[in-house]
This record gives sequence, structure tokens and C-alpha cells, in this order.
Amino acid sequence: MAESFDFLTRIGRDPAGLIQALRTIQDLYGMVSDAAVTAVAAHFGIPRAEVEAALAFYPSFRRTRPGRFRIAVCRGAACRRKNSDAVMQWISESIGIGPGETGRDGLFSLEWTGCLGCCAAAPAMKVNDRIWERLDRDAVRSILRRYRDEEQSGSGK
Ligand code: FES
Repeated sequence: MAESFDFLTRIGRDPAGLIQALRTIQDLYGMVSDAAVTAVAAHFGIPRAEVEAALAFYPSFRRTRPGRFRIAVCRGAACRRKNSDAVMQWISESIGIGPGETGRDGLFSLEWTGCLGCCAAAPAMKVNDRIWERLDRDAVRSILRRYRDEEQSGSGK
């Protein structure tokens, strides 16, 4: 989808609106592209570096296009206690990318996320809109296989 940043004119030029603008862009396009950074910097009259700094400060912003299956591993306190670092590592080893990256085939992207609200079932992760709980190595392997199978059968979403 071609990007358009016309909506910026509706949120004014006060730099206090920077984060709102970036969130709107990510909601619209799934990421904040270089073109978006340029447009936002020009709109608010601030350096690109300032926009980049805001993006770097909030890990929920993505600078690369998300995969068809967007994996977000929880790094909230409960999940960290239950070894979410290992969950991230297992996934990373299996799909060959690290946090903040999207695979070359566009199938998976991987990122950290904040608490998913199911701490009693930690460690947890979200794939698109579905939350997976009580993850261990076998569960991770099985879940990734399921999404690969969905892709091959053309039935995934
Ligand atoms: S800390 Fe992971 S679900 Fe709450």
C-alpha cells in the first residue's frame, strides 16, 4: 500500500503530537518507514534524528515490515521469571531472525512485547492476534510448525 501522510495536517504541528503521529502511521502501515520518518520530521519541524530517537525509545515501534505471522514474545516480569529469554532464543534459532527482524520470505517477524495480561500462564507470546501460553521448547516448535503448515496450505491468517 502506498503511504500517505496527509493525516498529519489534522494533528497540528506541536511536537507533543509526535508519538501519536508515529502510532497512527504504524497502525496504518504496520511499520514506520524511512519516508514516514522524513514526513514526520518535516511536519513537526524537528530533525530526523529526533524522530529516530523517539522510535528507538519505544520498542513497540517497528522500522521493518512485519511478517505475515508477527511473533511477539512477552518480556514482562512474570514471563522473564519463567524464562522468556529462552523462548525468544528457541524461536530465533528456529526461524533464523532476531528481535526486531522480519525473515526474507516475509513469513515471520519477531519482537519483544510488554505484558500480555496472562501472567499466571507465563511464559507467553502472541502471534498476530492469538496468545500462546505456558511455552516450553516443544510447544514453541509445535506452534511454529503449525504456522508454517498454514502458510503451505494457504489457510493462515
Ligand atoms: S508478564 Fe508476560 S503475560 Fe504478564
